[in-house]
Amino acid sequence: MNVTSTVEPAATTDADTLVAGSDAKRAKLSVRRDGDRQLITVGLGDPETRNRRAWYEITAAVAGRLAELDATHLAWDAEDDLQAAAVAEGMLLASYRLTAYKSEQDDETSGLGTLTIAGADERAVQRAVIVAQAVNRARDLQNGPPNVITPTYLGERARAIAADHATVTAEVGGLDRILELGMGAFASVTQGSDTPPALVVLRYESPDAPADAPLLAFVGKGVTFDSGGLSIKPAGSMVTMKSDMSGSAAVLEATAAIAELGLPIRLLTIVGSTENTINGSALKVGDVVTAANGLTIEIDNTDAEGRLVLADCLHHAVQLGADRIVDVATLTGAMAVALGTAYVGYYASDESLAEDVAAAGVAGGEHLWRMPLDQRYGELMKGTIADLTNAAIGKGGGACSAAGFLQRFVGDVPWAHFDIAGTAFNADEPFAKKGGTGAMTRTLIALASPT
Ligand code: BES
Ligand code: MN
Ligand code: ZN
Repeated sequence: MNVTSTVEPAATTDADTLVAGSDAKRAKLSVRRDGDRQLITVGLGDPETRNRRAWYEITAAVAGRLAELDATHLAWDAEDDLQAAAVAEGMLLASYRLTAYKSEQDDETSGLGTLTIAGADERAVQRAVIVAQAVNRARDLQNGPPNVITPTYLGERARAIAADHATVTAEVGGLDRILELGMGAFASVTQGSDTPPALVVLRYESPDAPADAPLLAFVGKGVTFDSGGLSIKPAGSMVTMKSDMSGSAAVLEATAAIAELGLPIRLLTIVGSTENTINGSALKVGDVVTAANGLTIEIDNTDAEGRLVLADCLHHAVQLGADRIVDVATLTGAMAVALGTAYVGYYASDESLAEDVAAAGVAGGEHLWRMPLDQRYGELMKGTIADLTNAAIGKGGGACSAAGFLQRFVGDVPWAHFDIAGTAFNADEPFAKKGGTGAMTRTLIALASPT
């Protein structure tokens, strides 16, 4: 298959270059002059690797070449709907720029103006555009500064999603609501910050879903800045901690896309949002707090705050009748150590949900790897004077013990937990070398999509 772009001639031509990445095996790009045009040819490499992920890599390589050529228009002759959708998504993701905080626009931000895709079902391309725009909005939330992307801002974003869709309603509560619900674990993190927290509950009801259809729940960690609290992080580790709300960015924008696509499901989306900072009332090491489900938690490290927020939000999802719960969180540095930036690690308490999750990862073009949810890790979270500790210090397996901790708050409801600490930010994705990747947005949309 050839990709032909009718662009203005550039001064240089290149030799073949291999597409970087591990999914598109042996794919190659070349550019040559054809009269007064530049012709970009894509050699697709190993046919077995033609999955959505491979198309992202190929598309990102094409996008890079188009930028060098100063091309403004691309016409793509698609082989099938999967390729068309992946190329449309990949091109939108690769041309993402955040300019909102620059006083002047860079020259390099002009980019591709139009992409015309032939040979595919128009609806497949429209769906791809909705999905890619959701991912890019999640990236805007991740990349935005923590003095702008506050818990209040995320609450306003949730209200805006509800205002845009008649099928969505939003409830945004503050500290009063958090306390009223008995969320002592969540509240304990908020007490060190002078910035008000937010508990966001979005409900999407498709008119095409029966009233007794199973209720899917998304829960997102929305820590808008994680200093570590009194167990303060070293300066170098704090640099990217505005992105500690990446889980909430994914669940919010996936919810918006699901509503826009009108997927025939019932969805409950919960975001627990706060800063983890230090004022005179900040949570102390040794404090014992009581979660909404009645379990007491001893604080051994104030930097293990995400699980405190999630514990109460997961329990809330159970209380609100969720039949399946999926949480997304930048939860542990240990996950980034275990899987690096290439794979999202997930835990699942239920085999049928695990299967659906794995299929959604392939459909969404995200690399997922299942990790062990084993009672032996859960045991590490026993408290000395309280039921639980929030941090198993020096025991190893930190991502697994965090999952074991969270499991205490979901009861018997089938649950999957995604730790995106390594993949959310600066993850060297084909379409996002630096900054937010929008990790899990596409997989969540795929999980909500009929198969
Ligand atoms: N937000 C961090 C996890 C994180 C680390 C995300 C690096 C992205 C990149 C989380 O709140 C945290 O600090 N976890 C601690 C837990 C520990 C104290 C048990 C960690 O991983 O060090
Ligand atoms: Mn932390
Ligand atoms: Zn955190």
